[in-house]
Amino acid sequence: MKSLLEAGPCVSIKNLAKAFSVPGGRMPVVRPGHVKPPASVVVFENFSFDVSQGEFVVVLGRSGCGKSTLLKMIAGLIAPDQGQILVMGQPVGGPNPWSIMVFQDFALFPWRTALGNVRMPLEAGTWRIEGELKRREAATAVLTRVGLQDRINAYPRELSGGMQQRAALARSMVVRSPLMLMDEPFGSLDAHTRDNMQKVLQDLWSDIQNSIILVTHDIQEAMILADRIVVLAGKPASIAGEIRVPAGRPRDRRWLVTKDAFELQERVISMLYGVNENVPGTFPEN
Ligand SMILES: Nc1ncnc2c1ncn2[C@@H]1O[C@H](COP(=O)(O)OP(=O)(O)O)[C@@H](O)[C@H]1O
Ligand SMILES: [Mg+2]
Repeated sequence: MKSLLEAGPCVSIKNLAKAFSVPGGRMPVVRPGHVKPPASVVVFENFSFDVSQGEFVVVLGRSGCGKSTLLKMIAGLIAPDQGQILVMGQPVGGPNPWSIMVFQDFALFPWRTALGNVRMPLEAGTWRIEGELKRREAATAVLTRVGLQDRINAYPRELSGGMQQRAALARSMVVRSPLMLMDEPFGSLDAHTRDNMQKVLQDLWSDIQNSIILVTHDIQEAMILADRIVVLAGKPASIAGEIRVPAGRPRDRRWLVTKDAFELQERVISMLYGVNENVPGTFPEN
């Protein structure tokens, strides 16, 4: 069964529709004789999207275009109105063992050591592993991978901010879920810690070889991390463009100053902002 699943895509979304009822939203058409429904904002309509197994997809798009809604539907945290979402070939009907979602403020539990935090998802529930020794081994291996092998018994307060971030990322990776959904995970970090986390994430991902869908506002972060950059735009949202990033790995900031990277950045920017808009900092001719 495993080999069959491995042949298919990790995520397959077909004809997805999702609207939220909100005051002042777009008014759906009402047929005569029907009760007028509340106004709604149509976020997705007839939206289709696939992610291959082992693929790292980064989603860019303006605020409010539906990025978080998309991740939450794939994670099974909110239900679509219509359409089909398959993860590892299984229909998503709620939180499921195939995917894990990581939010921006993924914090450690202060009363547990680094090891205790990373081991936690393996202790109970969906990701449980039998045997304390096995859990400890799995957690230690991931902590080693993020460079914290000497600090496994430290409490969060004894770790720097960057170390805490690495431990938190290790905790979401220890379960080795086939799909990881990351909603602006590094949005609140300083530039240096962020660089470091991008490197650590690439390392972990190349080790686990799962699929990742990561949402960010940062074009350069997208270029460093993605196999494929997908730009969402419009209401309802559609894929305004996508680009495969042809560069090898691991990538870091040094790659960003190459000619290839500048060209790529130009293409991403024009997909994101369109070619007809004024460039910030410039003025129209008249
Ligand atoms: N629970 C909700 N109730 C009502 N409207 C929502 C809800 N969640 C999201 N929306 C609306 O759906 C649209 C997409 O939101 P979101 O997915 O959070 O965008 P993004 O993550 O791209 O900034 C926005 O217009 C937002 O106001
Ligand atoms: Mg969002």
